[in-house]
Amino acid sequence: MPEGIILREETLDASYLPPSLPHREKELALLRERFARSMDAGQGWSQLLTGGIGSGKTALARALGRELANRRQRKDSAAGVKEIYVNCWRRNTDRAVVLEMLNAVDRPVPDRGFSVSEMLDTFEKGLREVPSPTLVILDEVSVLLKGGSKLVYMLTRGREVGLGPLSLLLIAPRDVLPYLDAASRSGFGVTHRLQLPKYLREPLTDIVLARGALALRPGSLSREVAEQIARVAEPQGDARLALELLSGSAHRAEERGARELTPEDVRWAKASTYPTMTEEKLDGLSPPSLLVLLALARTLRAPGTWVRMEKVRKAYGSASEEYGLPAGSRVTFWRMVKALEQEGLLEMEYTRPGAPAKLTQDEIPASLLELVLQERLARPSSAQS
Ligand SMILES: Nc1ncnc2c1ncn2[C@@H]1O[C@H](COP(=O)(O)OP(=O)(O)O)[C@@H](O)[C@H]1O
Ligand SMILES: [Mg+2]
Repeated sequence: MPEGIILREETLDASYLPPSLPHREKELALLRERFARSMDAGQGWSQLLTGGIGSGKTALARALGRELANRRQRKDSAAGVKEIYVNCWRRNTDRAVVLEMLNAVDRPVPDRGFSVSEMLDTFEKGLREVPSPTLVILDEVSVLLKGGSKLVYMLTRGREVGLGPLSLLLIAPRDVLPYLDAASRSGFGVTHRLQLPKYLREPLTDIVLARGALALRPGSLSREVAEQIARVAEPQGDARLALELLSGSAHRAEERGARELTPEDVRWAKASTYPTMTEEKLDGLSPPSLLVLLALARTLRAPGTWVRMEKVRKAYGSASEEYGLPAGSRVTFWRMVKALEQEGLLEMEYTRPGAPAKLTQDEIPASLLELVLQERLARPSSAQS
């Protein structure tokens, strides 16, 4: 039995939080500084953290929570910060989020019979029993805001609604301030916003090497292969993609019984890796919606980040013909686009009211999305339904 390559499988998992985050040290220090200063003054701090997929938002937020929790408060108190983390993608209504927050302060309530503001009152009582400052992290908060959340509004106005010095960290891929009302927005001035840049090739290389050092047998990951992985992930600037590639190629190398990762392992991993979240979401789509996405993928292959909706609609017409399905009306097309936006599978932008909308998606490379969709549409099951 040859010695394996993967020594600590769990450190390759996407949810694993490493002891340090290379190339995000400055951002972490900045956030810690902002929150700690307010908390020490007995106040809360509201912060918006934005950045693309895999730019390290969630990891940074959790690292911040960890540091604040371990941090000793002023000399008179030994209690660290209490962190309440909610992923709004999974809990995508105000009610579901508050229920989760209530669990975190040991005040569970039944799902029925209480309004959101009543539940917030209970949360407030729970908070009073927590001796330490509280930090609520709402990850993927755009899902809530697009659904017309009142909760975020109530939380940002914490003091007025009696929530005391509550700190709030909102995480979203893009600026979500336009979704907030003017009063809440005013709490998010420049010093309350932080945009994470995409990772370039060198940071990605360092991240991959650091994770390799944690997870893999020493000597099994060369700098050259780490750089190759970084090169593949660079267009997306996505650390998650880089780490998926690292994991995929390490598994592949181990299955081959090799002692180290080769460029061919990386190519193999590249061909078989794309975010599984998307795959799951695609499972729920009808063939016409898959065709809309296919049309978007094809249109997006031209240079440029956004494409005009009208262009996508034309491509959708051709794709429908190609697959022998009737192309729906303009209204049907519009509805499908809206539904896909709500699913987070594409994004829409309006240049000005009434102007033609533009579309994009940043989940996976357009060429890969195209391949995946073509493969899916060719399956017998999707042609029938
Ligand atoms: N600077 C970094 N150092 C080490 N690992 C990182 C870094 N940034 C991101 N990661 C890892 O990359 C993956 C994606 O990061 P994540 O925080 O989930 O991105 P986002 O929330 O912005 O989509 C996670 O597994 C995370 O641990
Ligand atoms: Mg995240």
